[in-house]
Amino acid sequence: MIPIANPIIEDEEIQEVVKVLKSGFIAQGPKVAEFEEKFANYVGTEYAVAVSSGTTALHLALLAAGVGEGDEVITTPFSFAATGNSILYTGAKPVFVDINPQTYNIDPQKIEEAITSKTKAILPVHLYGQPADMGIISQIASENNLVVIEDAAQAHGAIYHGDMAGELGDMACFSFYPTKNMTTSEGGIVTTNNKEMADKIRILRAHGEKERYQHSVLGYNFRMTDISAAIGVAQLKKLDKFNLKRIENAAYLSEHINEIDGIKAPYIMDEVKHVFHQFTIRVEKGSRDDWIKFINENGVGTGIHYPIPIYKQELYQNLGFSDECPEAEKAALEVLSIPVHPNLKVEDLEKIVQVLEDASMRFV
Ligand SMILES: Cc1ncc(COP(=O)(O)O)c(C=O)c1O
Repeated sequence: MIPIANPIIEDEEIQEVVKVLKSGFIAQGPKVAEFEEKFANYVGTEYAVAVSSGTTALHLALLAAGVGEGDEVITTPFSFAATGNSILYTGAKPVFVDINPQTYNIDPQKIEEAITSKTKAILPVHLYGQPADMGIISQIASENNLVVIEDAAQAHGAIYHGDMAGELGDMACFSFYPTKNMTTSEGGIVTTNNKEMADKIRILRAHGEKERYQHSVLGYNFRMTDISAAIGVAQLKKLDKFNLKRIENAAYLSEHINEIDGIKAPYIMDEVKHVFHQFTIRVEKGSRDDWIKFINENGVGTGIHYPIPIYKQELYQNLGFSDECPEAEKAALEVLSIPVHPNLKVEDLEKIVQVLEDASMRFV
């Protein structure tokens, strides 16, 4: 089976981890500081604060923005649950705005009508590695005095109009989960140019400690370990190479998929670098379940990102969410991700295309 994701861990990562294990500093220590400096440098922000996951990055970024009980945060329903859950953790209410059916990202034209006197922030997601339309989003945010927090969990190295994902909002949150474009095993980071926000996040990730054993606010233990940071430092060096391979794989797949009846290749906006965390096609003819069964039976892994809009999840239904986002609901029934990761070989790409051609013959 060609897997849908395949993290690349080489000798360098292993040796860096062994060094940390032998150093005596295995929790948050100098490697985390080194990783933060290198990641901030890569993204082009003043600060980067490493944490235990992409989810905790979002949670702390929202808290640092002052989001809490009674506030609303505008976001997309077509994302991993963590995007909505992180808003719920703060006591605020996620307000879901429908997506653009081509990019699958939040539709900026629909944001303004969702703004109320309670809106505090906008949380766009750069889904699948393609930046959200940040120009319009930033303009709406500045006109309405809202904080912008990028969910860049899937977009390490992506670029929008010359600027990198991570420096497009007031803060940005990345995930380093193993399937992502780079990994630290579990892990996350917040990037920002805002010193006050960076300082708040540093305090919140370590039990609200400004000084050792002096707790000024209610914080958490959301620290990253030096073991994870050691993997991150090694992976960051290879991120551009990994992304280039993803982009080349995506170009090959798109070129061939455009000739196959019944499925549609991803759309790429002008002036963006899409880093293809996922290569997600739309099944336009036949049943998606039939396509998936056939593709899997013929040795190619698939994923559905995402089968249920966040507000339709049982948790959200039980909380009384009744949003309606028709484009997100339609996409949830039609999208299908196929392998694009940098470990694919030419034979794998050829096989993927062949299997899709065979499926098309059968179901269209
Ligand atoms: C869009 C998005 N947001 C947030 C997260 C949460 O990241 P993590 O799994 O590191 O907590 C993920 C990844 O899983 C994600 O894909």
